[in-house]
Amino acid sequence: MKGVILAGGKATRLLPLTKITSKQLLPVYNKPMIYYPINTLVKAGISEILVIMAPDYAGHFLRLLGSGKDFGCKFSYEIQEEPRGLADAFIIGANFIGRDHVAMILGDNIFDYDFSRAISEFNDGALNFVKEVQDPERYGVVEFDENKKVLSIEEKPAQPKSNFASVGLYVYDSKVTEIARNLKPSKRGEIEINGEPSVNNEYLKLGELTVEIFDGFWEDAGTFDSLLRANNYWAEKVKN
Ligand code: G1P
Repeated sequence: MKGVILAGGKATRLLPLTKITSKQLLPVYNKPMIYYPINTLVKAGISEILVIMAPDYAGHFLRLLGSGKDFGCKFSYEIQEEPRGLADAFIIGANFIGRDHVAMILGDNIFDYDFSRAISEFNDGALNFVKEVQDPERYGVVEFDENKKVLSIEEKPAQPKSNFASVGLYVYDSKVTEIARNLKPSKRGEIEINGEPSVNNEYLKLGELTVEIFDGFWEDAGTFDSLLRANNYWAEKVKN
């Protein structure tokens, strides 16, 4: 299993913080944000990690992260010239992924959870993690039946069909690169992980999408309030 961290984008929702640096380099209590997704992957047993960055502050990522030795892993780096969508990570990362399985984590997703069992048990197809939330309309929303059979996935729907958000960690077999290459852009002009068309909906059509509910700490730290919550959570955790 290889790991990909998508740390691209312009993060306009966090302006002016992101005028002079990248969102994923901002502090979350006592560490730069990207340390958290790195640690989530390393804790899950993944040691080969591709970091995908926007061009503007790419040198800062290299200086901060280096080879990966300090984290117990090995980093590779790629530049995402334009924010074309989350599924672009699999096109940029196609050579890196090769014939392996891949876990893709969003660079602003802060977890406090051990995914090693789920990841070591993964065989093929697609595995998504979902968490029950109060504000599902902010996220990809997954609807499933009592046997956890997925019925639909919608991106930020005005009327969510469930309270389960698709969190920013996705596990796929190697055909994800081909699926991503064949995706058409969505209405908002991006190639998507969730919504229609999207990587997850392609796996759903193939009958190869499974979901696992998890109830650990999770924040998508892409807004001022969620960034503050992530800071407060780790401040408490580190001090206690
Ligand atoms: C992205 C995805 C969304 C997912 C979320 C998790 O949204 O498009 O489906 O639920 O990440 O963090 P974004 O935060 O890029 O708006």
